[in-house]
Amino acid sequence: LNHNVNRERRYILEVLFNGLRRLEYRGYDSAGISIDSLSSSDSLSPLVFRQEGNIESLVKSVYQEVATTDLNLEESFDVHAGIAHTRWATHGEPAPRNSHPQTSGAGNEFLVVHNGVVTNYEVLKETLLRHGFNFESETDTEVIPKLAKFVFDKANEEGDQTVTFSQVVLEVMRHLEGAYALIFKSRHYPNELIACKRGSPLLLGVKEFNEDVCNGPSFHDVKFLAKNDQPRELFLSSDANALVEHTKKVLVIEDGEVVHLKDGAVSILKFDHGKGKKGLARPASVQRALSVLEMEVEQINKGKYKHYMQKEIHEQPESLTTTMRGRLIRGGSCKAKTVLLGGLKDHLKTIRRSRRIVFIGCGTSYNAALAARTILEELSGIPVTMEIASDLLDRQGPIYREDTTVFVSQSGETADTLNALEYALENGALCVGITNTVGSAIARHTHCGVHINAGAEIGVASTKAYTSQIVVMAMLALAIGGDAISSQARREAIIDGLFELPSKVREVLKLDQEMRDLAQLLIAEQSLLVFGRGYNYATALEGALKVKEVALMHSEGILAGEMKHGPLALVDENLPIVVIATRDTCFSKQQSVIQQLNARKGRLIVMCSKGDVASVTVGGSCRVIEVPQVEDCLQPVINIVPLQLLAYHLTVLRGYNVDQPRNLAKSVTTE
Ligand code: G6P
Repeated sequence: LNHNVNRERRYILEVLFNGLRRLEYRGYDSAGISIDSLSSSDSLSPLVFRQEGNIESLVKSVYQEVATTDLNLEESFDVHAGIAHTRWATHGEPAPRNSHPQTSGAGNEFLVVHNGVVTNYEVLKETLLRHGFNFESETDTEVIPKLAKFVFDKANEEGDQTVTFSQVVLEVMRHLEGAYALIFKSRHYPNELIACKRGSPLLLGVKEFNEDVCNGPSFHDVKFLAKNDQPRELFLSSDANALVEHTKKVLVIEDGEVVHLKDGAVSILKFDHGKGKKGLARPASVQRALSVLEMEVEQINKGKYKHYMQKEIHEQPESLTTTMRGRLIRGGSCKAKTVLLGGLKDHLKTIRRSRRIVFIGCGTSYNAALAARTILEELSGIPVTMEIASDLLDRQGPIYREDTTVFVSQSGETADTLNALEYALENGALCVGITNTVGSAIARHTHCGVHINAGAEIGVASTKAYTSQIVVMAMLALAIGGDAISSQARREAIIDGLFELPSKVREVLKLDQEMRDLAQLLIAEQSLLVFGRGYNYATALEGALKVKEVALMHSEGILAGEMKHGPLALVDENLPIVVIATRDTCFSKQQSVIQQLNARKGRLIVMCSKGDVASVTVGGSCRVIEVPQVEDCLQPVINIVPLQLLAYHLTVLRGYNVDQPRNLAKSVTTE
């Protein structure tokens, strides 16, 4: 939204399209946009374009439609409020009618884009149907603009011609249950937008064209914005990625807040359950400080790579270095080798006293926690249990005040993990967050935590965040383990191993071509099994998850110790099986697994430590992937890399979309 900046329609469209391109990894089955038809503010009627498919299909269809109308792309606007959305379907198939903006009906009186799920939409829909509203979509979202129209019409019928946009939205919010980040646009309130949220993330970005104002101290006072008349553009987005090319100054909108943008000014109201004189919700004004994003645009570009996943796999030596920066101390005046995790220092005593540590996460984040479980148990002596967030909630599993719960999440916004966090907070546990996203809900709502600092991860399949998460949790184990003499040598070996890790990852990345050749061999397979145990059971799960997610090939990670209790039945000369058999205390057991698989003519691909080929090929020939050996608890960081490369190449060779795998989304902010 511009104020005194005077922008052409083409510019406005492109800003919105680019924003969607930056968010596309979060959902890409359909998209939509709404802009104004006229630049004269008295009769602005919003135009809506919606299209099935990815952003580029929307872009194409909008320009095609514009060409057939008298809309002039060069027409300029002094002030303009536009909205756009890219969707990951929850309710209703991907189709234009189910895409956002959802509308209140003919004339587009109220338009809404929504991230989240309204859980009580059926009840609201029934009520609205009784009041004569017709629904055209199968979405939960459609009730929202219709409810806004209902509230607006009712206020007007009752003679309140002065009902404000914020009041309408506050009233709508009072009826919504579930999770949402919403942006409203309305024909009745030209040049205004309202944003509000509960659960799902939402940010406001502020771009000032006057540098003095930009850097002035009072800039941190949001109220100042409302009075200020400087030219500016304001951006609302559920992700910082869409803002960073415009501005780094952001406001993280809190649950229950209603952010009102009008003619370039911002005001923030807080949802209040009480009612005002006219029966409408009573808003209370709030002041908030802006934060500065620590992110560069280059981070979210592909650079020399073809795909984000490829880039993110190859930048792991750098992302791991950043993860460890300033946190490992070796030599110098401080002789001992130690770990410093600033975000935890005030809580380490409590963690050490806990009866249990519970790791909670979903998908790759869960696997990373599993990879770190053993070292945490070893160094802390505290039992560590694992919870998939949704399962903990389904079971309402016991969480006690004496527990330390650790929430692992790349995005920091995954709904299941967030709900589990709420549950753990209610049960009085200490809550620690491990996320990659500063300012995310998990980072804000936990008592303490560590950021993994892996840099923006855009590929839907998580790669560099996984390895950084393992490293952070290994550092967590070192920090909790304290300074017991008995484990000093072990701790120091791990710290040395951490220092060496980036160069070892650089070495293992040289397997790129070899993994491409392997992918070529496996291109037409239906299925792939990955066997691992001990530290590398997590590697088996994560390797299989990568192959499944992006290469769309059935793949299963199997605990090798369980092989004879079922999976062995699948083994024949056709089914490819990756066996992870790098050196650690489980090595001899993995050797006998290989022998047993060979005895059944299994088609094996064995991952072993450099120089171990002879030891793993006893009893039969097999393809071998040799990887550098590191300290056992850090070996999962090395071992996952060839499997990431394999999944990547399989996907490219099979002709699938690497960065946007079918049906998935990067950040799942719905239950
Ligand atoms: C989605 C993504 C996965 C990710 C999982 C947990 O399923 O596709 O790549 O591992 O969510 O996400 P989080 O942001 O909590 O780590």
